[in-house]
Amino acid sequence: MKPVKVGICGLGTVGGGTFNVLIRNAEEISRRAGRKIIIEQIGTRSENPACDTSGMQLTTDVFEVATNPEIDIVVELIGGYETARELVMTAIENGKHVVTANKALIAVHGNEIFEAAQEQNVMVAFEASVAGGIPIIKAIREGLAANQINWLAGIINGTGNYIMTEMREKGRAFADVLQEAQALGYAEADPTFDVEGIDAAHKLTILSSLAFGVPLQFNKAFTEGISKITPQDVQYAEELGYRVKHLGITRRTDKGIELRVHPTLIPRDVLLANVNGVMNAILVDGDAVGQTLYYGPGAGAEATASAVVADIVDVVRTLTADRDNRVPHLAFQPSELSDAPILPVEETTSAYYLRLQAVERPGVLAHVTRILGEKGINIEAIIQKQTTEAQVPVIMLTQRVEERMMNEAIREIEALPDILGEIIRIRVELLAD
Ligand code: HSE
Repeated sequence: MKPVKVGICGLGTVGGGTFNVLIRNAEEISRRAGRKIIIEQIGTRSENPACDTSGMQLTTDVFEVATNPEIDIVVELIGGYETARELVMTAIENGKHVVTANKALIAVHGNEIFEAAQEQNVMVAFEASVAGGIPIIKAIREGLAANQINWLAGIINGTGNYIMTEMREKGRAFADVLQEAQALGYAEADPTFDVEGIDAAHKLTILSSLAFGVPLQFNKAFTEGISKITPQDVQYAEELGYRVKHLGITRRTDKGIELRVHPTLIPRDVLLANVNGVMNAILVDGDAVGQTLYYGPGAGAEATASAVVADIVDVVRTLTADRDNRVPHLAFQPSELSDAPILPVEETTSAYYLRLQAVERPGVLAHVTRILGEKGINIEAIIQKQTTEAQVPVIMLTQRVEERMMNEAIREIEALPDILGEIIRIRVELLAD
């Protein structure tokens, strides 16, 4: 059979890893794919010292790769939104199949890209866009195809998880740890994407569409980062038997779909609570299988390349299959996508950890609990630390309640004269059912 020719756009961390894996494992990969896979051209503005590209056809213009008539598969690894979108659309217009690791691109422009790909009868594969080397897209789209997925919750940003782990285990400062994650090549070009949860929201948007068969709706994802988490909250959570993790959670409810990324208290003994450092993990709850957990490296050159190359192999294997019988981009047939609404965060429910600073005076807690009671909020646990100061931190765990009611309660409690400053609120998930 004729070899399949790929063009790699971008030779940074993931591009370099992909190049090296394709070269090093060429023989075994072609035994799996059934065809030889040749790197025909590389589009990159700068060389990667980790790659020996001697004898390769290089260009600084990635669009040359997207229009090269020799190339069958364009591998987009340049990242970012706009140029990547243009590149992928050009490749599709030119009849190329596309493999990408770009979560921002898929989360924001995926609907348009898939439609164009469908029209041109080409494939767009994006396994590496979520959780690096973990084959979570394949697992949801194919392995769990029998299930109605109820919810999934994941640690899907390695940098954020690394920061939270180091803060908890070593009491290290936030900025310090972030700098280290950048040096290790894990952090996004703009680290606020990691710290403020945008990167995780990109990935969760993709997972949610795959789980529930809805179009990609990144703009409806609720996103809260880790920058406000203090070592104090991490410590109180531990005392209560919980751990703070930055989670992406998507859940099917009667009213619509929850799509939210935020720091979350989860019981210390669940597996997800023990996923540390830069590792990623996704817990999926399906009606037939129950809970399954997917764990592994969510970033890094060759770990991500593992998913990119698997996609190339998939494309090569599918090249001869009829278009209507290929695995659909969003797991469900395009005509079967549902219009279930994505819920505003006010309409989602969760339990809450609250930390408030109260004046040390009789009756203050009574006011607080009255307000919670009026909003139908049940208190699960409460800690008031002994102090000789005039003010005292009070920590509470509540049962599940609609976020709207919690917002109202927090507004009223913050307005009490004996409550000082803002109330810290972290959502709590038991991940049990
Ligand atoms: N910045 C991302 C992370 C890289 O830290 O998980 C992989 O998408």
